[in-house]
Amino acid sequence: MKGLFITFEGIDGCGKSTQCELLRNYLESLGRDFIFVREPGGTVIGEHIREILLDKKNSGMTPRTELLLFEAARAQITDEVIKPALESGKTVICDRFFDSSSAYQGMARGMGMDFVASLNMAATGGLKPDVTFFFDISAEEALARRGKRGEASDRIELAGLKFQEDVREGYLELAKNSDGRIVTLDATLGIEEIFEQIKQTLEGRI
Ligand SMILES: Nc1ncnc2c1ncn2[C@@H]1O[C@H](COP(=O)(O)OP(=O)(O)OP(=O)(O)O)[C@@H](O)[C@H]1O
Ligand SMILES: [Mg+2]
Repeated sequence: MKGLFITFEGIDGCGKSTQCELLRNYLESLGRDFIFVREPGGTVIGEHIREILLDKKNSGMTPRTELLLFEAARAQITDEVIKPALESGKTVICDRFFDSSSAYQGMARGMGMDFVASLNMAATGGLKPDVTFFFDISAEEALARRGKRGEASDRIELAGLKFQEDVREGYLELAKNSDGRIVTLDATLGIEEIFEQIKQTLEGRI
């Protein structure tokens, strides 16, 4: 693989898309050849899978089915889009990739990090990001940031917070064991400050 593979990870509302956008603009200003992708979707087959995942009629979907559908969409985008782009020397930026499955399904849904890691491996054929930025923030702060904080937290909102905290725990665990692939950034800092850290990390590589 010649191109650099960069992924963005973290709980809902941590600032992934904001930083992806800044990096895309930056690479564009440098005249670099890159692609930006987002899961699930990004291929015709992936978009079909995305519809199944989002369809409210599918409320009976089991966690394992959900996980396997995410992995199926991932397999498709990996083979059809990501690998060819990397092989042709392009930088690939991905807003979420397999670490999301590990943190959400593996940790927060309790399916097991090792179990999900083996499915991730199956879906990607062993392809791993070169650099993964993990935006670390508490569930409360991320929720407040998204402007979804009501007057009083109700039962469901509290369950939602607990779920997001579990996802965060999953990411922290992944970061600890990633041999430096995952770069943890303090997501409570200002947008520009965080982007400076991203540029510094990527200096000389993009
Ligand atoms: N460092 C920051 N400081 C303050 N606000 C921020 C920061 N980064 C992003 N935001 C704001 O927080 C909100 C969520 O950001 P963003 O959509 O980038 O998060 P996300 O991780 O992509 O969320 P999702 O998981 O829902 O896609 C947006 O309104 C964004 O403008
Ligand atoms: Mg986003």
